[in-house]
Amino acid sequence: MTTAAVSTEAHVAQNYSPLPVTVASGEGAWVTDVEGKRYLDLLAAYSAVNFGHRHPELVSTAKAQLDRVTLVSRAFMSDRLEPFAEALARLCGKEIVLPMNTGAEAVETGIKVARAWGYRVKGIAPGKARIVVAAGNFHGRTTTIVSFSDDDSARDDFGPYTPGFDVVPFGDADAIAAAITDDTAAVLVEPIQGEAGVIIPPEGYLTRVREICTEKNVLFIADEIQAGLGRVGETFACDREGVVPDLYLLGKALGGGILPVSAVVGDRDVLGVIRPGEHGSTFGGNPLAAAVGLRVVEMLETGEFQERARTLGAHLDAGLQKLLGHGVTAVRVAGLWAGVDIDPARGTGREISEKLMERGVLVKDTHGQTIRIAPPLVIRSTEIDWALEQLRLVLEG
Ligand SMILES: Cc1ncc(COP(=O)(O)O)c(C=O)c1O
Repeated sequence: MTTAAVSTEAHVAQNYSPLPVTVASGEGAWVTDVEGKRYLDLLAAYSAVNFGHRHPELVSTAKAQLDRVTLVSRAFMSDRLEPFAEALARLCGKEIVLPMNTGAEAVETGIKVARAWGYRVKGIAPGKARIVVAAGNFHGRTTTIVSFSDDDSARDDFGPYTPGFDVVPFGDADAIAAAITDDTAAVLVEPIQGEAGVIIPPEGYLTRVREICTEKNVLFIADEIQAGLGRVGETFACDREGVVPDLYLLGKALGGGILPVSAVVGDRDVLGVIRPGEHGSTFGGNPLAAAVGLRVVEMLETGEFQERARTLGAHLDAGLQKLLGHGVTAVRVAGLWAGVDIDPARGTGREISEKLMERGVLVKDTHGQTIRIAPPLVIRSTEIDWALEQLRLVLEG
């Protein structure tokens, strides 16, 4: 097969503006394109590949499950589901797990749970439940989720929009308190906003959100789909403030970089409001997903990956700080996750991303002047140094 034959341009809908790299294989923190050129992957599928490409333990877990059973009717539970759910609930310090597939489905599930809880437990009048969300959010691409996005490219021409959401500035706990009424069922936030450019809220924000939600009898839903599962140097981004939400929304890395796996995790008095037959998915919690998800949880239970994200993240941070004033105007780092604002005089985020790609480093631009860095947590410090050197050279022009 020639390179042209595998080009993405002819038959793939143009709903992304990808960097011109057609990836053929991957291992660890590296991917290889169809022509054999290697790239250090500093994006890791937007944090979905926290354990590296084709992590041997995850691949062997998946292969073993492929030899047993991969999909069963939802009328039956597989022998992988309960161990997965038990382990994930334990990791979260919660009681039960509702498995889904994509991140957006986990968010949709969280919204449904919050509304049902609002009506059945809190006593909100039918059809009145509201959810407070933050400006600049990214929770996925379904019609309900884009209804409360303030990103025009996510929303425009996709209405009519789903009502029932109140948007307040991110990082402003007082604004959340002011927006809550008797009809509010939940506050839904990313503990760190990923797609917005790794926006870290002021210290104490999550603590305050927790207090407000408890005081006002409102659920606190943390979308940890991108921030969670080791990325920030803790198991969850909420752990940075020792905060426990009512519901965790998880996805991306939960599938070990092998397949889509997402979940909503909470206690029985909240998540248990969903009754048999009310919600589900053909693929949610399937044997292959559960087997891989269980192995992911076991890997996180050792704390090794959180530790790597902490120490290597500090290393990344130190390197990025040196670029401040040299083509970089701001740096925000949480574990192995960084938003880097580029001086417009040196180019746009997109231009810098393309030049880095030419040098064998994959990053992604966001919001014009920002590049995002989220390498697999298996990356080595020497690889980070090399990538930072490429960034320095690109910024030097
Ligand atoms: C915080 C957050 N929530 C939800 C999603 C949606 O996940 P998915 O693309 O798997 O639907 C994303 C994806 O980037 C995300 O970053």
